[in-house]
Parts: sequence; C-alpha cells; structure tokens
Amino acid sequence: MGLKERLTFLSQLRADFVHTGAIQPSSRFLATAMTRPLRERSPGDARILEIGPGTGPVTRAIVRSMGDGDELECYEINSDFAQYLSRTVREDPAFTEARNRIRIHNAPAQEVEAGEGFDFVVCSAPLNNFDAGTIEDILRSSFAAMRPGGTFTFFGYVVFPALRALFARHATLAKLAEAQAVKNDWIMRHRKGSQVVLLNLPPARVHHLEGLSH
Ligand SMILES: C[S@@+](CC[C@H](N)C(=O)[O-])C[C@H]1O[C@@H](n2cnc3c(N)ncnc32)[C@H](O)[C@@H]1O
Repeated sequence: MGLKERLTFLSQLRADFVHTGAIQPSSRFLATAMTRPLRERSPGDARILEIGPGTGPVTRAIVRSMGDGDELECYEINSDFAQYLSRTVREDPAFTEARNRIRIHNAPAQEVEAGEGFDFVVCSAPLNNFDAGTIEDILRSSFAAMRPGGTFTFFGYVVFPALRALFARHATLAKLAEAQAVKNDWIMRHRKGSQVVLLNLPPARVHHLEGLSH
C-alpha cells in the first residue's frame, strides 16, 4: 500500500468517519479472505458487485480472481474514492485485462437495482457504524440484486464494537444493540461460513452469507 493511498484514506476518514469507518485500507490478508468465494466457485462466468471499494485493496483481489468473462460493478458512496478508483482502474497495469469489464458507480449500495442477478456481492461498507434501518436497507437491496444461491461477503472489526459499547451512553447503547440484532438476524438466517483475519488493523471477522434459493 503506497503513501498516496494511505493519505487519501486518512483524509476521507477525517471528512466522513461514519461511512469510511476504518483507520486504513484493508490488508491484503483481509482482501484475500473477502474474495475466497470467487476462487472456490464452480466454473462459469460471474457477475460481481463490490460495495464500498474505497481506494481499492479488495477490488485488486477481486480482479486477480476474475475469469475472462466475469464482470464487476462497484458502488461507492464517496465521490473522492470513486474518482481515485476510476483513475487506478484506468492507469494501473494490474487492471489492464479486466478494465473493460469494470464499472464504477458513484452511488450508495441501496441504489443497486433488484434482479441484477449478481453471483457474488463483496461488501466493505462499515455496517457496524450504521443504524438498524440502514443495515437492513443495504442487506435487503444487496440480496434482491443477487441471484438465488449467490454469496454475500462482508466484514466487521472484532474489538471495536465491544469497546464502543463499553463507553456508550444509555440511548446510544440501545441503538447499537438494535443494529447488532439486525445484523445477527441476517447472519443467522443466511450463514455459510466465517473466518477471523488477525493480520489487519484492526483484526476483522469475514462473514459469508448465502442468498435464498427459490
Ligand atoms: C471500511 S471502508 C473500506 C474500503 C476498502 N474496501 C477497503 O477494504 O479498504 C468503507 C467504504 O465503504 C464506502 N461506503 C460506506 N457506505 C456505503 C454505501 N451505503 N454504499 C456504497 N459505499 C459505501 C465508504 O465510502 C468506504 O469507501
């Protein structure tokens, strides 16, 4: 990870803590864990949705796992990040092969259209920072855009939520509990697997969820 990438991330963290939600871009270990379902899939072309690519560490891992016919749509709410990633995809040789099959939308994940039929959704949006309604909206629209049997992958930091709860006021605590309950409900209903990644700052747990088969 270069200095420019780190500085871009830090400036966006200062500008919008809630949506940026991390102190630095994900490590390559976390990016590898986030993209594991892409490498373990059965043969065939895939449609991939990435939510919250930021400066693109997970995008790079996705691109390394993409087959010749795969397509990637990225939804990024922050216009500075969307511009940074567009430039990277245009100019970085690592993206040459897949460049024409990647589209970057400067829009929130909640605007992804239902019925898109994505095989994989890879989400780095910081769900732990959001209220229950926003978490529900993001998960609902993602699952509606995913084909039955598709995989939704996201991560959460393992220590931060407990620390935040420890210092929260009573009213905030109730909101945190409500948000956590929504997330846990989705995990329980769709759980496919999970993995702790220690080599990230802070350490994270990656969850893989399965879209309902009809
Ligand atoms: C924790 S950062 C992760 C960035 C990058 N994927 C990484 O792993 O380093 C969260 C990213 O999600 C984006 N984000 C937050 N809420 C979003 C939403 N509702 N839709 C799309 N992107 C969102 C933020 O702007 C930021 O780029």
